[in-house]
Amino acid sequence: MFSRRLLDTLSRARSVVAFTGAGISAESGVPTFRGSGGIWKKYRPEELANLDAFLRNPELVWEWYRARRQVMSGIAPNAGHLALAAMERCFERFAVITQNIDNLHRRAGSRTIYELHGNIERNYCIGCRAQYVSEVLPGTEGAPRCPACNGLIRPDVVWFGELLPSDEWDASLSAAEGSDVFLSIGTSAVVYPAASLPRAARRSGAYVVEINIEPTDLSDQADEVILGRSGEVLPELLERITTIQKGTPA
Ligand code: OAD
Repeated sequence: MFSRRLLDTLSRARSVVAFTGAGISAESGVPTFRGSGGIWKKYRPEELANLDAFLRNPELVWEWYRARRQVMSGIAPNAGHLALAAMERCFERFAVITQNIDNLHRRAGSRTIYELHGNIERNYCIGCRAQYVSEVLPGTEGAPRCPACNGLIRPDVVWFGELLPSDEWDASLSAAEGSDVFLSIGTSAVVYPAASLPRAARRSGAYVVEINIEPTDLSDQADEVILGRSGEVLPELLERITTIQKGTPA
């Protein structure tokens, strides 16, 4: 499943990046955005995931995010998330850059995580910017309001038309450009600017590996494409890395 070149490159790698999308959480039961059963087949992003929609109908947007949080609270990290958390201990530098808001990398034990699209467990007031973790949000229905200034509270996720959090973006770009191996996992790699990271990594000399159940827009530009489920491929990759690092032939 893994080429000799990938295993050799990994055996010398000091810096590795795992760039993840909705596909890594699919085996935990979180629906993806595109493809069959994708969220954007059932809902229109412009009705739910943008600031105008929120200001027009905050109750509807909150109903949707509460429902998504409900789904996410009932699930657990899968073997793919756990393998990435364990890989962090195998390299001098290892970062997870995720487009997911589901918090599963953190729950799996990964420590260096850049969340490009926010996190559904965090919220903030659009009036005074006070932060609220979801557990302490006032009320369980309608749109919660800030106890401090009565402003509307919104989920701390990036909506269409919004900029990515600049600290997370800068750190992600620098990790991507400084990586020896860049793994693009479970993402259709079509949503920019996140999707520019594998391309930037490759331009900077990283060995770019795509892990996905099907080819994507990135496949032609990757050094290697591994077709398979991330919950199966990543534990196997971890095992090979561990074997190499113990000094036994992979
Ligand atoms: P997509 O739904 O666009 O793509 C999910 C990818 O995961 C597809 O390429 C699938 O083939 C692949 N996949 C599904 N199951 C898999 C599995 N078990 N193992 C490996 N791959 C699997 O999701 P993203 O690329 O994450 O943005 O979407 C990017 C952004 O679009 C999201 O962060 C979201 C959305 O609009 C915002 O909300 C800002």
